[in-house]
Amino acid sequence: MGDYVLQMTGISKSFYGVKVLDNVDFMLERGHVHAMVGGNGAGKSTLMKILTGVYTKDAGEMLIDGKREAFGSYSGANRAGVRMIFQELSVVPSLTVTENIYLNHEIKKGFFNDDTCMKQNAEKLLSRLGIDVSVDSKVADLSVGFCQLIEIAKALSEKVKILVMDEPTASLSDGEVKRLFEIVKTLKGEGVSIVYISHRMNEILAIADEVSVLRDGKHVVTEKSAKLTIPAMVNYMLGDVARHSFEYHTKNPLPNAQTLIDIQNLSVDNLVNDVSFSVQQGEIVGLAGLMGSGRTEIVEALFGMRNIQKGVVKMMGQDVIIKKPGDAISAGIALVPEDRRREGLVLSHTVKDNVLLALFKKVMHGPFIDDHKINSIVRDSIVKLNVKTKSADVTINTLSGGNQQKIVIAKWLKNNPKLLLLDEPTAGIDIGAKGEIISIIDEYAAEGNGVIVVSSEISELVAMCDKIIVLVDGKKQGELSRSGNINEEVIQNAIQG
Ligand SMILES: Nc1ncnc2c1ncn2[C@@H]1O[C@H](COP(=O)(O)OP(=O)(O)OP(=O)(O)O)[C@@H](O)[C@H]1O
Ligand SMILES: [Mg+2]
Repeated sequence: MGDYVLQMTGISKSFYGVKVLDNVDFMLERGHVHAMVGGNGAGKSTLMKILTGVYTKDAGEMLIDGKREAFGSYSGANRAGVRMIFQELSVVPSLTVTENIYLNHEIKKGFFNDDTCMKQNAEKLLSRLGIDVSVDSKVADLSVGFCQLIEIAKALSEKVKILVMDEPTASLSDGEVKRLFEIVKTLKGEGVSIVYISHRMNEILAIADEVSVLRDGKHVVTEKSAKLTIPAMVNYMLGDVARHSFEYHTKNPLPNAQTLIDIQNLSVDNLVNDVSFSVQQGEIVGLAGLMGSGRTEIVEALFGMRNIQKGVVKMMGQDVIIKKPGDAISAGIALVPEDRRREGLVLSHTVKDNVLLALFKKVMHGPFIDDHKINSIVRDSIVKLNVKTKSADVTINTLSGGNQQKIVIAKWLKNNPKLLLLDEPTAGIDIGAKGEIISIIDEYAAEGNGVIVVSSEISELVAMCDKIIVLVDGKKQGELSRSGNINEEVIQNAIQG
């Protein structure tokens, strides 16, 4: 028998009468990395929130180091060395990096916070983790990828025995993922036991000792990762449901396709420098690059969220001036942002209201809202993207992370923009739904629309894009086309500069 730091047995949990965990067992060996996989809404985060005292279980038992335990709160779990890097980033944008790292466990000198000491410790921590950012920066000014790294630093600022990482790499590009894996290996070497949740299947096999699969709230299997393959894991996760393939399909060019958007010499906030490219009707164009290469800044500028210093943007041959999101929306441009919690959704509203937010004009019938139309639009979105929700009338923060992301996409597709900007569209989305989303985006492009997509997952760019723009340090390094050679290795090399 193994040396288990954590034994969870018979765990059940319901929310409002719906069972989301059903008699689940989970055993974590000391000093191991145990991955947990499963479709969106399978119950991964809920199980780990029960471990860390965020939720209470309805039934079951939990032993830590062989002793029965039940934490009444997250801080109770922290005191016992049990910490979690949450899927929903919990950093506070208005605070600095240091303040975030020591939030709720400030280092004191007498009655007062010892700012100097916290700052020095934060600096040490960041340099140990190889995170290149000033501890005095405001978190609001950092990209989502850096926020994720700060979240990790925060979890490691105190002694930790069990560390849960819930989708830690959702917005990290491959370089940063490598660094994170180094960190995981170091922690493992120090005897820390880790639960690793991810939808990126190749990561799982690279990092995990064991893998547990959850499906619809039930434990399906636990297996040594050396004995698993990606197709085997996907089968356990999804069962026998029909799947969309994850491969690029050659398309017939649209008859009479015109240049939808032409971007010339775009410079943005000193972060993007003199970038030019165009998107044809029916075309999906990818932006590839490392964190900080200017990918997100380009789509944000095209949506009026950043200052365009220089450059000309033409839609269907006409100049357009984009100074604010309203200008972009009038020109037929929509953005699905990277951080759904910061920009994409109103979490306290219902699923229905979130889908509707983007399309008030369409559902107005004279001065009245056409309820019938609303219901059919919302129902259609839920079915099409296979959103796991009890109804359209529940608040969105009760949906699992991946299902929230699907609502963001549904919201903008329903608005029929001519040009759709997607920033990390499938971050946190399970491998079944990823295929669904890619095929929906394909269909949408085939109707004569255009898409610009940013993704850290190179395999996703390869599966989706007709053309790829490579960015290095805010400059365009090159353009890859299907007639040339789009494959993972070529892109991987190109983005290194
Ligand atoms: N606070 C809550 N109130 C009501 N329902 C909830 C709550 N938290 C989670 N759920 C429901 O429990 C189920 C499991 O959600 P959970 O977040 O654990 O899934 P997950 O496996 O982490 O999915 P994902 O991969 O999308 O993050 C979902 O159907 C979700 O809607
Ligand atoms: Mg989750």
